[in-house]
Amino acid sequence: MGNIILTGDRPTGKLHLGHYVGSLKNRVMMQNKGDYDKMYVMIADAQALTDNFNNPDKVRDNIIEVALDYLSCGIDPNKSTIFVQSHVEQLTELMFYYMNLVTLARLERNPTVKAEIKQKEFGPSIPVGFLTYPISQAADITLFNANIVPVGEDQLPMLEQAREIVRAFNYYYGEVLTEPKAIVPDNKICSRLPGLDGKAKMSKSLGNCIYLSDEEAEVKKKIMSMYTDPNHIQITDPGNVEGNAVFTYLDAFCNDDDFSEFLPDYKNLDELKDHYRRGGLGDVKIKKFLNNIIQKELSPIRQKRKEYEKNIPEIFDMLLKGSEQAIEVGAETLEKVKSAMGINYFKDIDLIQKQQEKYR
Ligand code: TRP
Repeated sequence: MGNIILTGDRPTGKLHLGHYVGSLKNRVMMQNKGDYDKMYVMIADAQALTDNFNNPDKVRDNIIEVALDYLSCGIDPNKSTIFVQSHVEQLTELMFYYMNLVTLARLERNPTVKAEIKQKEFGPSIPVGFLTYPISQAADITLFNANIVPVGEDQLPMLEQAREIVRAFNYYYGEVLTEPKAIVPDNKICSRLPGLDGKAKMSKSLGNCIYLSDEEAEVKKKIMSMYTDPNHIQITDPGNVEGNAVFTYLDAFCNDDDFSEFLPDYKNLDELKDHYRRGGLGDVKIKKFLNNIIQKELSPIRQKRKEYEKNIPEIFDMLLKGSEQAIEVGAETLEKVKSAMGINYFKDIDLIQKQQEKYR
């Protein structure tokens, strides 16, 4: 069997550099290499509502933003199916059956969910929808028989849980579902890009992001104010590259060609780091270098976005078509699931006969 790729994002804001290096860039590469059978990209609005149920406007307003970001990064609706989660009702039905296969204790152990619960300060009042979103995510993946899921590192626990659900389902009802595998970027930093402040990960709620759609001047301003080494005060001071966000980003984004293009005094990142460690290399210089690299990556994306922004109704149309395709595939899987579970009563002629036999 060939490869089926599925991945998605919550529409709670525009996508940022963390999304880009963590997964989006990988998806576009895989899409363009074409060594797969099918690729699905899902706008996870229903999942976004699990912690934004009190603010549906936010989710609604960001559907188009995420779609614009996808298109401008190169996700091509002629090659991939881009769809909206809530439109595919089979996902909810599948989740309902999966809920029988997962314990409360197991949900509470999911490290990503655990961290999020703490961060969101739910206290003892954890919404059931939020706690169970890993089950919904298992449905997202398996409804489309996806075996490959390109994600950032924080999603690995979701994939582990999805695999457990698949194994439980196949154990009770027969081999129907495919166990999915996560693909994370080779570069560890890309898998979990820190914020501009050097802390935690880049995240909208922490306000430490560079958005794919930020204007050139905005990107520059953000990079010039990035966190470096607080003890590197004079240019001549020796500096730390570990925990220095500018170097972390260089680790994620730069390659040797960038040096010949923008900073020919150095051959590669190792040389630059050595100089910084020794002292004598100022923060402004490394920030300008990083800015050049990021601008080079983002400027074609920004330009493409401006074109797509002129055609919003067409993009909604594309999303609807994608969602209808998703429904078709989803309905097929759900038929298989229900017949494996033996709950497809009205299509099961044998069953109806047998029930009659009982009374003969
Ligand atoms: N949880 C993912 C995120 O927050 C979004 C998502 C929802 C997803 N369903 C998915 C990712 C299925 C991969 C596969 O980014």
